[in-house]
Amino acid sequence: MEQRYRLLSLLADGRFHSGEELGAALGVGRSAIWKLIQSLEAYGLDVYAVRGRGYCLSSPIELLDRARIVAELKPRTESLLNTLEIFAEIDSTNRYLMERAGQGVAHPHACLAEYQSQGRGRRGRDWVSPFGTNVYMSVFHRFESPPEALQGLSLAVGVAATNALTALGVTGVGLKWPNDLIWQGRKLGGILLEMAGEPSGPWNAVVGIGLNLEVSESVGRRIHQPWADLHAAVGTNPGRNKAAGQLLHYVLEGLERFSREGFAPFHRAWEEYDVARDKPVIIHGATGATHGLARGVDETGAFLVSVDGAIRRFLSGDVSLRLAP
Ligand code: BTN
Repeated sequence: MEQRYRLLSLLADGRFHSGEELGAALGVGRSAIWKLIQSLEAYGLDVYAVRGRGYCLSSPIELLDRARIVAELKPRTESLLNTLEIFAEIDSTNRYLMERAGQGVAHPHACLAEYQSQGRGRRGRDWVSPFGTNVYMSVFHRFESPPEALQGLSLAVGVAATNALTALGVTGVGLKWPNDLIWQGRKLGGILLEMAGEPSGPWNAVVGIGLNLEVSESVGRRIHQPWADLHAAVGTNPGRNKAAGQLLHYVLEGLERFSREGFAPFHRAWEEYDVARDKPVIIHGATGATHGLARGVDETGAFLVSVDGAIRRFLSGDVSLRLAP
């Protein structure tokens, strides 16, 4: 990746660069540059090659920059953060942090990547993670509480991410239980919470967030659900460093608050963002599909559905929710 990353840093400005210029900068010949350029397709990048002008990315890239991300934190969240790592390429920021958490590293520990080769989504799905366009972030937090006390955590993180989106200028953002980030009925981002621990605690929780900033047509074809990006939701792309920094700020704040107060302070906000409230929904679980009317969540974050006049509780992880057409 190192050579490719150096090539991408040169091409990131979106201007044409000749093969000769790129070769001189990387200390390789023009044919090696041609091979590197071809390999960029695997990263989900479109590169134009024009005779006499050289190579150019189909659109400029804002590479991740630690100083610009940290500049978005407030003194309080900056002092909370223990470690921030930024990778050019990784299989999955969640997988990496689960491994580091198991090795006993200090927390909170955050990690961002330009590209994920095996980005993980909820319910075993992939998370399409092209190079340098969206935000892929994970944050590891260790909780002393037993697992029952962590039930509302994934919803609390949804509220934190929604607050970040509002701060970035998105209006009308919503949450689909447990924590899909929704704008105009389409998915703007997703959250994957992974946990490991002993029954009596402590528990290692890794919160992974994928946020769409700018989804190209070719990448959009690989996402198998209705999607939206921040560019459309805000009217302009706020920039990856700003988006990553804001997200990190609100998530760190949310995790810290949850560790002190649990789900209670997030409950009302979650219900205000709930896109399914009082709508017909279908819950898909191991025993089949259940149809009912969505009635918000209880104090543990369980989803409440009115089915034939009785309220039923559904727990995250067991089921998936669809808004009925
Ligand atoms: C979902 O399916 O809605 C959850 C998507 C979570 C994707 C993020 S991207 C950063 C982190 N690393 C991963 O492998 N997955 C999460």
